[in-house]
Amino acid sequence: MAKQAVLACGVVDDLWGQVLIDHLEGRSAQYRLVFDSGYEVVFDAAEHFSPYFQPHELEALSFAHGRILDIGPGAGRHMLWALSKGFRPTGVDRSPLAVEACRRRGCEDVTCADILNVELPPAHFDSVLLMGNNMGLAGSVDGTAHLLRIAFEAAAPGAWLIGSFVAMDHVPDGERPERGVVARHRIAYRSQVGPLFDWTFFSTEQLVSLAREQGWQIRRVLSGTDIQSYLIAAKPLQGIEALLGLPERELDCDLWEGVLSRAWLGEVADLEIEGFGSPPRDLVDVDAVLGPGVSDAETAALSRLRGRVLELGCGAGAALSFLTDRGCSVIGLDSSDLAVGAAHMRGISRARRADWLDSLPDDGPFAGFVLLHSRAALAGDLPGVRLLLERLHSTGTPDAVLVMSYEISGVSFPGLARYVHEGRAGPWWYFAQFETDEAVSDLMERAGWRCVELLNTGPTGRIAIARRAVHAGLPVPGMGE
Ligand SMILES: C[S@@+](CC[C@H](N)C(=O)[O-])C[C@H]1O[C@@H](n2cnc3c(N)ncnc32)[C@H](O)[C@@H]1O
Repeated sequence: MAKQAVLACGVVDDLWGQVLIDHLEGRSAQYRLVFDSGYEVVFDAAEHFSPYFQPHELEALSFAHGRILDIGPGAGRHMLWALSKGFRPTGVDRSPLAVEACRRRGCEDVTCADILNVELPPAHFDSVLLMGNNMGLAGSVDGTAHLLRIAFEAAAPGAWLIGSFVAMDHVPDGERPERGVVARHRIAYRSQVGPLFDWTFFSTEQLVSLAREQGWQIRRVLSGTDIQSYLIAAKPLQGIEALLGLPERELDCDLWEGVLSRAWLGEVADLEIEGFGSPPRDLVDVDAVLGPGVSDAETAALSRLRGRVLELGCGAGAALSFLTDRGCSVIGLDSSDLAVGAAHMRGISRARRADWLDSLPDDGPFAGFVLLHSRAALAGDLPGVRLLLERLHSTGTPDAVLVMSYEISGVSFPGLARYVHEGRAGPWWYFAQFETDEAVSDLMERAGWRCVELLNTGPTGRIAIARRAVHAGLPVPGMGE
């Protein structure tokens, strides 16, 4: 058994690590967190070894990829998850025995150091993890700002920060300290105690503003049924070209509209895509946006729809026209002025210009939804796709049908892309990537949709047909559910 340094006052320096080693060696290891106020909570070390994660924790982890820095990995459960996915995790933990536990469990790349006082390679990591409430480990607001800055400096452009925290959102505004609560506590284990240490607790709003101040772009906050929330943020993409080995290009924010208008005028307008990950080809297929026809597989899928149908990303209205001919009453939304104009010129007056990722029309309910040409991926990441599907669920009739195309890419973290045309580049955007068919049908299920049929449109291309399921968490206005 590893030896412990017992300080003069009888406090065991690395009692936390001892708890982990005891569990690893098969001894039952229940410990207490004893707060300054006298409040105590009992924990079992087993939870720091569990390979199982809550659904929203898994969702948060789905952003992690590549070279992963796990700050404060404890016994290394998230590092082991990363290794099982083929990523390269690096851990930094200040507890020597926690580091030993990680190594004995197969996580080799772990350094024993205080993260607030260690040199990390600049702009190196693709993802930074602060799991198990580790957003609070710096013990003060200024310390947390410093920690977020350290993570920022170590992160590559476009990298993700995935940090868990216990949100203090239930504390009334007036009673909440302006920028966080510091809880002083220590570990008590068997007859010993560890040193006092401080942990910071924030409201979601406080943490979000602190992360923003350090340069992070907030992408999402995930909360689930347990007390943990997850802050998902990204480092801005400036400079990512160098990292990806891509040429610097002149930025053209209207590139997409420009290409569409040239294609509409009959000029050949081929569009390239570059970045990180593999965007579905049909996201770049200009002809598919402007073309008048629907493919055989699309015909088969769209034939399942009846009544009022909403299409998101309707392009120049090929599917709307097909559905109208079949007696459906359609509304199509597209973020491109040119695509909507083209639909109108084709006589499809129910196409509207709208940023459908931000808001949906409130003139539901709809009996059908169409998301073709991998448009769901434009929600940016898997939680984004889930939110979008939940919004569709809440504006669907009880028997609504969803037709959604996607491509299997074998990975679950978001990709990054930009359009390139004649040497100029459009702005960067994120797109969701779907690992397997099962993962997509799981995600649909969680958003209230049950996949009833899957059409193959190629080796990796799919069109899913799903039915709206009764979904207890999401009442449908006016539907009496
Ligand atoms: C609450 S545990 C979480 C462990 C793990 N992330 C998990 O979710 O199971 C916090 C971990 O962070 C480590 N830690 C706390 N402050 C640290 C610091 N300043 N630098 C490095 N590690 C730290 C502790 O030693 C401990 O292993």
